[in-house]
Amino acid sequence: MKIDILTLFPNMFNGVFEESIIKKAIDNEKVTINIYNFRDYTNDPHNKVDDTPYGGGAGMVLSCQPIFDCVESLKEKDTKVILLTPSGIPYKQKMAYDLSKEKHLIIICGHYEGFDERILSICDLEISIGDYVLTGGEIPAMVLTDSIVRLIPGVINEMSHLEDSFNENYLLDYPTYTKPREYRGMEVPEVLISGDHKKISEWRYNESLKKTKERRPDLLNRGDRNV
Ligand code: ADE
Repeated sequence: MKIDILTLFPNMFNGVFEESIIKKAIDNEKVTINIYNFRDYTNDPHNKVDDTPYGGGAGMVLSCQPIFDCVESLKEKDTKVILLTPSGIPYKQKMAYDLSKEKHLIIICGHYEGFDERILSICDLEISIGDYVLTGGEIPAMVLTDSIVRLIPGVINEMSHLEDSFNENYLLDYPTYTKPREYRGMEVPEVLISGDHKKISEWRYNESLKKTKERRPDLLNRGDRNV
């Protein structure tokens, strides 16, 4: 897979993909991640990428030309173009799964007061990572990239993401423990040391259910099993 990220702040990505699982995925050629500064694509003599909004109002609006030209120069036959914006559709694990099957993603990081609405005409998806407003789409682009790359086959053990929270069963993760058996008076639950795998599975399921009921009852009532 190839992921091209379009941003005005490429330095924000320094180091982010140079550690741990994403670095390994890049080293193992499971993914190529390129960062483009779309200011490099502006035709404006002063390197401008934005302008004041028609109709008035605060702030600056990202202009069409640099983003159109940048996207058009990168787009291939099977490219999915994603725009990150707080008014996009809410990002979910199912979307990460679907996007992990794509060949090429272009992710556009919005900034300032927003972007010219005509930019949507070259985008396939508008995504929000949550109901809060960040200073720009860079951190959301990191979130998307991380959540997608870990799902590319061969990047991590398939079993570990089959057990992720937010998968088909919509249950949050059960509690896990490692050695020692007792730490500062806190004991590992007896059942996990029993060696009885049926009992362990039942315990884990019940703990997941309990945690989900307490923290995210909304997940239990969802009929939309694919979203
Ligand atoms: N840009 C600013 N806030 C955002 C959000 N919550 N999701 C996606 N892009 C954003």
